[in-house]
This record gives sequence, structure tokens and C-alpha cells, in this order.
Amino acid sequence: MSTTMRSGDQLTGMREIAQIGRDSRRGGYSRSLWQPADMELRAWFVERAQRLGLDVEHDRNGNIWAWWGIPGPNAIATGSHLDSVPGGGPFDGPLGVISALEAVAALKKSGLRPSRPLAVIVFAEEEGSRFGVACLGSALMTGRLDPNRARALTDEAGVSFAEAARRVGFDTSGMGPDQAALERIALFIELHVEQGRGLIELGSATAVASSILAHGRWTLTFSGQGNHAGATAMRERDDPMIAAARAVLSVQEAALEHPGARATVGRISANPGGSNVIASSVTMWLDARAESDQATRALVADIAERVGADRFHEDSWTPEVRFDPDLARQVAATLDEAPILPSGAGHDAGILADRVPTAMIFVRNPTGISHAPEEWAELDDCLAGIAALERVLRSLL
Ligand code: GLV
Ligand code: MN
Ligand code: MN
Repeated sequence: MSTTMRSGDQLTGMREIAQIGRDSRRGGYSRSLWQPADMELRAWFVERAQRLGLDVEHDRNGNIWAWWGIPGPNAIATGSHLDSVPGGGPFDGPLGVISALEAVAALKKSGLRPSRPLAVIVFAEEEGSRFGVACLGSALMTGRLDPNRARALTDEAGVSFAEAARRVGFDTSGMGPDQAALERIALFIELHVEQGRGLIELGSATAVASSILAHGRWTLTFSGQGNHAGATAMRERDDPMIAAARAVLSVQEAALEHPGARATVGRISANPGGSNVIASSVTMWLDARAESDQATRALVADIAERVGADRFHEDSWTPEVRFDPDLARQVAATLDEAPILPSGAGHDAGILADRVPTAMIFVRNPTGISHAPEEWAELDDCLAGIAALERVLRSLL
């Protein structure tokens, strides 16, 4: 990126959190649930919201709500998440939270007296980077994720969700569907950095979301016989890494045969993981997405046929989301007929969409890269996004 471009990380909120969770090994940021960086970001949000005069509430599922007005029915909600993928970019998540705070600050400064309450929500573990299930906080709240299953999830170090929660003083006994919390909100609007090239191609700073691809995650396990790398002849090996390598190629081959589909093996782990050790088992994680539920299921069935269905364990499944078309049109009209774009990435707004009307505003990302340090947004586009969110909120309040 050109250094003359003014980056969105010059926004006050972005500057305040710029050092939190920086990952010098991977580049970018690693901010996973309840690790020190995430805890620091949550504390930052609480402090920032309180400074704005908002009342902060922690719900039963790890999400944070900051209220302008008395929490109650018919509220407008906005927000996003603060956690990141390993080595992620600065904007995925935080831009939505910071834009929400900036929009509220601007509305307050303008003297607006809202006719209904407004909540800024920070959702927990949107990326699923620590416990493997994306949009965990919103999925628990809407009842999509069983709290017993959530408590039993483990991170890479084998720490259970329940134990990780205990270490940070979060009580998991109340987790689960929260109808009372949901009933308060009339609609939810999430601003997010765009994660593809749609806005670059359209030459527009902002867009409104139409849909999210159906997507899911699967764990694949390959077993073999652990052995000595030097003492075991090539023909005497039962090396699971070979089957795993073939499976990675099969994933790519299958996805290329399904138009519009995406399938990724972004993580692989050899056990025990020694460079002079033939692995005894290999685990890999598959992320698969396509336009419809049926197309995604067909893709995964095709991969399973090539790789062996018995290896598959489904970790999560999120059906295709179609955002409320009336709300999308209303938001687009408020933004001078902003274009309407589909999203290849998942969002908490997608989880909430089957319970409340939901909309998303995307802000252009001139690199088109996301989930990587090169993710970017120009300051002027971020300011356009904030102004857009402010305008939409004003029209609803
Ligand atoms: C979240 O960003 C996802 O789509 O995985
Ligand atoms: Mn993301
Ligand atoms: Mn995100």
C-alpha cells in the first residue's frame, strides 16, 4: 500500500488499540477469546463506552452491550467483534465497533434525542479462532449453539471453554438462548471492512450486504503409525501425512469443479509433530462455502467421497443468509443508493438475521485482502462508513 494513503488506523479508536495483540511472529494481530489481548480490548471498549455516557452490560453469553437510553424493547443495535484470526488484519471486527462508537458520539454531539434505545454490541469469539466455532457469542444467544457443547470445546492447548471461562471469571452456567436479550432489539446493523474486491470493482466507498454464503467447518483425522524418520524404510511406513497431503489436493480439485464454491485447508497439525518423527496422526481443518446450503453440502459430500467420509467431523454449519431485503433497500437508499453486495465471509449479523431484521454496511478494502496483515481501509472510506452508519442510525432513532 502506498505510504501516502491515509490509513483508517489513524481513527482515534484504531490508534488506541493499535498495540493490543500485535503478533510479531505472524504479523498483524492475534486476538483470541479471553487471551490477554482480548481481555484488554474488552476493557478498552467498556471504558470507551462509559466515557461516552453509555451503560455497559455483560450478557450471559460473553457479549458486551453498551446502551444509550434505557435497555428495552424496540431498540436499534449496532456493533461487531474485537477478536481476530491468528495474524489477522486491524479492521475485521474493530472497525465495526469503533464506527458504532464514533456514530453514537456524533449523534450525541448533534443534540439528537433518540425516540428509542440504542445498543452497541461486542460479540464474543466471532472468528472461532480459539475454540473452533465461529460467531460463538451470537450463536449461544440465539440458541443455535448448545451451551453444553460450547463448554466442552477445547483450544489448541487442550483448555476447555469452561476452564478458560473460569480463568477469566466468566460464569458459564447461565449460557444459552437469551430470548429476553434478543426481544429488546428491533434490528441490528453491522458495519464491517469489506473482505473481497467488490467495492474496488464498483469504485464505491461503501455498500450494503445482500447475503452470506452458506459455510461450515469440518475436522478431518488421518491415523498411521508413528515411527523413526531415519530407521523406517520408505516402503515400511504407515505415514498419515501422505493421505493428508492427498486430501488437501482433493479439496482443491473438488472445489474447482463446483462453480462459485470455496474450500480451504488453512490449518493442519501433525501429532506428535517432530521433524524427525513419522506422525502417528494428522488433523486438518476444512472450511467450505458455497452460494446455497445445498451447493455447500454437495461440495462437502464430494470432498468426503474423495477423502473418506469416516474422517469427517462437522464442527459448525451456518446456512446461507439472505439479509432482510426491505431493510437492505432502506439502508442503501439512506446511503445515496449504495451498491448491494454479497459477502463471502460470515458475520454475527448473519446469525442474528433469522431472529431480527439485520443489515450490514461494508467499507472498501483497497487490497481486497482480509484475514491477513495486508487488510486495509483508507481513512476517508472509514469516515464515509461512519457517516453512513450515523445517517442510518439517525433515520431509525
Ligand atoms: C469470518 O470472518 C469467517 O467468515 O470465517
Ligand atoms: Mn473475520
Ligand atoms: Mn468479522
